[in-house]
Amino acid sequence: MSPLATPYYLIDENRLKKNMEIIQHVREASGARSVLALKCFSTWSVFELMSQYMDGTTSSTVYEARLGYEKFGKEVHAYSVVYSASEVEEVSQFATKVIFNSVSQLKMFKHLVQGKKIGLRVNPGISCSHYDLADPARRCSRLGVNNRDELSDVVNLVSGMMFHFNCENDDVDNIISSISLIGSRYAEELKRMEWISFGGGISFTKPGYPLDRFCRALKDFSENYGVQIYLEPGEAAITGSAELVTTVLDIVHNEVDIAIVDASVEAHLLDHLIYRTSPGVSYPGKGTNPFMIAGRSCLAGDVFGSYGLETVLKVGDQVRISDTAGYTMVKKNWFNGVHMPSIVVRRLGGTVETVRSFSYEDYINSLS
Ligand SMILES: Cc1ncc(COP(=O)(O)O)c(C=O)c1O
Repeated sequence: MSPLATPYYLIDENRLKKNMEIIQHVREASGARSVLALKCFSTWSVFELMSQYMDGTTSSTVYEARLGYEKFGKEVHAYSVVYSASEVEEVSQFATKVIFNSVSQLKMFKHLVQGKKIGLRVNPGISCSHYDLADPARRCSRLGVNNRDELSDVVNLVSGMMFHFNCENDDVDNIISSISLIGSRYAEELKRMEWISFGGGISFTKPGYPLDRFCRALKDFSENYGVQIYLEPGEAAITGSAELVTTVLDIVHNEVDIAIVDASVEAHLLDHLIYRTSPGVSYPGKGTNPFMIAGRSCLAGDVFGSYGLETVLKVGDQVRISDTAGYTMVKKNWFNGVHMPSIVVRRLGGTVETVRSFSYEDYINSLS
């Protein structure tokens, strides 16, 4: 059998299942339901597996809500930073809950949401994020209601509240104290709710995460206020479950050895450019041979990073970039017309399936 043509994202269902089992454990131990944040990961070819362990999806737009409804099933939380009237009508066809971002949107559109639960996003004024860009409670944030009086006035119009206030937070003490602060600050409103969401950004599937303490805090909160808790894991659901498999096309030298591969950070792993981070390399292994690995787009800074590798790279070698499931496939783009990586899934039983490949037709059809 000929090897698969690179570049491709390789999703490993066995690795995904490990995260799913943790999510299921949290569900059983705390009672908190988990809905997948589609903004992070929308590759529906593995939803059949994920939907066995999760309670549904949460979305940011009508398209995501429709995707969740059609491909994942179960509950569909439809949140959007802003809706038009026609979008509220459209999203109501797919959603089990419609969550508004502001009091003005709630008042304007609640009558268009027929027979669905309505929620409101609240900005609790606290957050944990390593990046200002992704900090939901940053100064002048437009994300959620921050005015207490405004919230009190409309609390009888909603059955739930959503607090998304974390990004890559792996500190359980911080989560526990934030949850307790939210509890005491919004006690009156919480007692009138049926459900609340603590959003995403909690790294609870990370190895060694103190799940027992996390689950206890969620359970206590849920019992104290009589609410069904939801979590909205994106990254935590898919962390560690995919690689970007590339091939070295050229080696150049400018102070350092630079391997140029057939993929691009800008087009295929955009978040690393936005947040100025470097992905890991899972193959070749770590060693003493220094290499810069760079992407093929024209952008000068299209660089994956600098690594010490166990082999000296040469043209034709495979390089695998690790942990490439989250905020990657959902953000890939056609910059420079760079060939878009296929999507390949290693199924639970070990078979390897190319679930999507892209061609020139896809490129021209994305423009006109
Ligand atoms: C409202 C909301 N829920 C869930 C998520 C998922 O976050 P993460 O992928 O960090 O878990 C996000 C991410 O921005 C979000 O804005």
